[in-house]
Amino acid sequence: MTLEIAVSEESPLEASCDALVVGAHRSEDGPGLTGKGPAVDEAMEGRLVCHLEAIGFKADPGKVVLVPTLGAVPAPVVAVAGLGSEAEAQTSRIRRAAAACARSLGHATVVGSTLHSGGPEGSAAAAAEGYLLGAYRFTSHKTSPPDNGLSRVLVLHAQADEVARGVAYGSATTLARDLINEPPSILTPEVLAARAVEIATSGGFASKVWDVDALREDGFEGILTVGRGSAHPPRLIRLDYEPREPKAKVALVGKGVTFDSGGLSLKDARNMETMKTDMSGAAAVLGAMSALAALRPQVHVVGLIPATENMPGENAMKPGDVIKHYGGTTSEVLNTDAEGRLILADALAYASEQGVEAIVDVATLTGAIVVALGGKCTGLFSNDDSLAQELQIASEEEGERTWQMPLLDDYVSELESEVADIKHIGGRYGGSILAALFLRKFVGKDIPWAHLDIAGTARSDSASDESPKGGTGAATRTLLAWIEDRG
Ligand code: BES
Ligand code: MN
Ligand code: ZN
Repeated sequence: MTLEIAVSEESPLEASCDALVVGAHRSEDGPGLTGKGPAVDEAMEGRLVCHLEAIGFKADPGKVVLVPTLGAVPAPVVAVAGLGSEAEAQTSRIRRAAAACARSLGHATVVGSTLHSGGPEGSAAAAAEGYLLGAYRFTSHKTSPPDNGLSRVLVLHAQADEVARGVAYGSATTLARDLINEPPSILTPEVLAARAVEIATSGGFASKVWDVDALREDGFEGILTVGRGSAHPPRLIRLDYEPREPKAKVALVGKGVTFDSGGLSLKDARNMETMKTDMSGAAAVLGAMSALAALRPQVHVVGLIPATENMPGENAMKPGDVIKHYGGTTSEVLNTDAEGRLILADALAYASEQGVEAIVDVATLTGAIVVALGGKCTGLFSNDDSLAQELQIASEEEGERTWQMPLLDDYVSELESEVADIKHIGGRYGGSILAALFLRKFVGKDIPWAHLDIAGTARSDSASDESPKGGTGAATRTLLAWIEDRG
């Protein structure tokens, strides 16, 4: 069931809903209700604050307490959501609180929310986003899906366009999650292309898909080579969101490996288990593009997705093979499990020819970034400091952690090859940097480019407030905020 988010002009003291959500800050002398909270407490003759004090509620971020109203307001229950101390980044706290409420209010069908009231600009959008993120479940393949109850959120006294913006961001993320969580037997490169075309069609923008013949004709040998070991042929997907008078033109490139077995350099069973999620970069790009029709930024966005499986079939690429990538640069393949960079190389070279002012790629590229930054922080690499800064600002706005990593020229020599222009892997250490240095080779001269390595953040092993286990949709909202900031 999709969660509906609507704006309502009703006051919290009148709104008919199954639960009313109010926020609380942590302060020296106990929890302080925000926005409309004190009015609700007054209607309850002080019992709300009394209850919070009695149970020692600290208003920690992510904590939710349910208090019965016993007829004082139409809603039978007030949910008080912790927002932490007042000094800290509040929109991210509001997003998280909304997500936590969506989780703990499974018994309620209609929720009235005042979480944004009294908060900074963007609070209503963050709340709408949070409810969608927290309520998300992937149940397509459950024969009797558990009913999470929550079907409608009324955001009380908010600006409709702000809420719509939050809904667009939230839905973009849940769309990305749906793609990531889909089993690889279903989501093959062909099916990913079909879903992409559907997204373009419903957003009213253009799309183009290269099949194997077209890939051969245009010289996308990186994509073809990685795809050769699979029974499901590869694709290259292009979507164009093009407003009438664009102020800028950018390209988004997403790694779309619908299953990564490692190829002949086969992964072990444990490391292969989660490899249906190796198309999470593609999912972030498609999720973001799905929201552009609603957000209408004045930016021409070219979305590019090289889509393939990485399998060890009889025609699979072999260590020692040399690839002539799109644009003519040759690379030497040594470990067939470093396949992502081979398909991205083609796509980056192609993107560089499209007259764009910036290219951002998103990829579950290296296990090394997971070692470096763990599961809650995306690695950011860039050849342009101001682009890196723009992305960092965007990710901060959206509560998605990123950390800039160095593109150290000192390591370039590790990629020298005896037989080709470049080797696709280097030594044992600094694996994420080496991968990024390889990608940089395929970006056109003087084009600002950034690479988001989401290998750690694309899926989560445990549920959090904002995401259940599985695909997180990481980077989707960062991309959207970055595009909106540009246009
Ligand atoms: N898809 C993997 C990276 C990955 C690892 C994503 C863990 C998510 C979680 C990528 O294709 C890969 O296998 N990279 C290799 C590169 C190595 C062979 C140089 C890796 O990181 O081990
Ligand atoms: Mn791999
Ligand atoms: Zn991979």
